[in-house]
Amino acid sequence: MEDLGYLKNDPTFSSRAIHDGNEPEQWSHLAVVPPISTATTFKQNGPADFKMFEYSRSGNPTRNCLEKCLASTENAEFGLAFASGLAATTTLTHTLSAGDHIVSMDDLYGGTNRYFRHVATRFGLEIDFVDACYPKKVEAAMKTNTKMVWIETPTNPTLKLVDIAAVAAIVKKHGSSFLVVDNTFMSPYFQRPLDLGADLVLHSVTKYINGHTDVIMGAICTNRSDLHEQLRFLQNSIGPVPSPFDCYLVNRSLKTLALRMEQHMKNGLAVAKFLETHSCVEKVIHPGLPSHPQHELSKRQCFGHSGMLSFYIKGNDLETSKKFFKHLKVFTLAESLGGYESLCELPSVMTHASVPKETRDKLGITDGLIRISCGLEGTDDLINDLDQALKAVILQ
Ligand SMILES: Cc1ncc(COP(=O)(O)O)c(C=O)c1O
Repeated sequence: MEDLGYLKNDPTFSSRAIHDGNEPEQWSHLAVVPPISTATTFKQNGPADFKMFEYSRSGNPTRNCLEKCLASTENAEFGLAFASGLAATTTLTHTLSAGDHIVSMDDLYGGTNRYFRHVATRFGLEIDFVDACYPKKVEAAMKTNTKMVWIETPTNPTLKLVDIAAVAAIVKKHGSSFLVVDNTFMSPYFQRPLDLGADLVLHSVTKYINGHTDVIMGAICTNRSDLHEQLRFLQNSIGPVPSPFDCYLVNRSLKTLALRMEQHMKNGLAVAKFLETHSCVEKVIHPGLPSHPQHELSKRQCFGHSGMLSFYIKGNDLETSKKFFKHLKVFTLAESLGGYESLCELPSVMTHASVPKETRDKLGITDGLIRISCGLEGTDDLINDLDQALKAVILQ
C-alpha cells in the first residue's frame, strides 16, 4: 500500500493475532485450532480443588484462549470478553459507586449515550458530556468525584478525533480517575490507545474484530492489574459472558483482522475521495482526507483508517436520504458496521435516534448525514453503486 504518512504499524501484529493464546500445548491433544469447549462445569478432584476451570461463567477454555489473543492485539496484559459491547460498558461502569462522576465525550455511539443518561444515572452516577476534541474542556469538567473519563475516537457518526495522549495526561494528573477509549471504529490494528496512555480500551467486538456480522460480543483490555481484578470479579458476579461458540468464531476472525483492515481502509479512502468530488454531495467526513480538520492528529495517533465515513447528501433532508437508500444495490441499508459487506445507515433515525434532537442538531447529525461502512467488495463496485444512487435521486 502507498505510504500515506501514518505511523508505521507493528510488523508482528498478524503473528500475535494468529498465535498468542492459541498455543497447541494447552490442549491435551495438541490441537492446532482451539476446540469449542461447551462444558458448563468441570470435574473437581476434591471440594474446591480444581485444575484451571470451575464453572464456565467464571472461566471457560475457549473464552480464555480468545481473551489472551484479544489482549495481545491491544498490547495489553489482560483481556476480558463480554456478551456484547454494551455488556462490557455496563460491567465497566459497575466499577463505580453512587455519587461518582463520569466525564464523557458528547459525540458517541447512541446506545452508550442512552445507557449513561437513562440507566447509569438511575444508580446515582453523575455524568457530564463534553466535546473532548478540546482536551481543555475535559480538564474543566473534572471534579473531585470524577472516576471515569470516556472517549470514542473517531466518534460515531461524525468522525471527530480526540487526542488520546493529551486527554490521558489530564486524567493522570487528576489521580483517582481512569480513561476508557472505545476503539471499536479503528480496531486494534489501526489504533492502540493503551500505548498512548489510556487505562482501558473497549470494543464492540461485533464490528471489525469479528468482521463477519454474525456475532454480538464486547471486550475490554487493560494493563492495570487493579482494574483487571475488579472487572474479572464483576464479569463473574454480573454474568454477561459470551458463549464458547461465539468465542471460537471471534478467535478465528482475529486471524484475518490485519488483512481485512487493509482492504477496509483502501475501500474507505477511495469512496471518500470519490464522494468529495461528487456534485450530489455537500460534504464528506473521513479523517484520512486532508480536508478533515484533524487529519494531522490522525497521522500522529493512528496507523491508518477503517472503512468508516459519513457524508451530507445534497438537499440534506429525510426524503432525499430515503430515496438514495432505495436506489442502492451493493450497499445494504442496515445498522452496524465493520463486516465484510458494505452497509449504510441514517444515524438521525437509526443508530442515534435515542440521542435528544437538540444534541443531534448541535453535533450535526441531520437527516441528510449518511454513515457508510465500506466492506471488502471490489472498490469500483462500491463507487459505481454510490454514483448511480446519487445521480438517480438528485437528477430525477
Ligand atoms: C462505537 C460503539 N461502541 C459500542 C457499541 C455497542 O456494542 P454492541 O452492539 O456489541 O453491544 C457500538 C454498537 O454499535 C458501537 O458502534
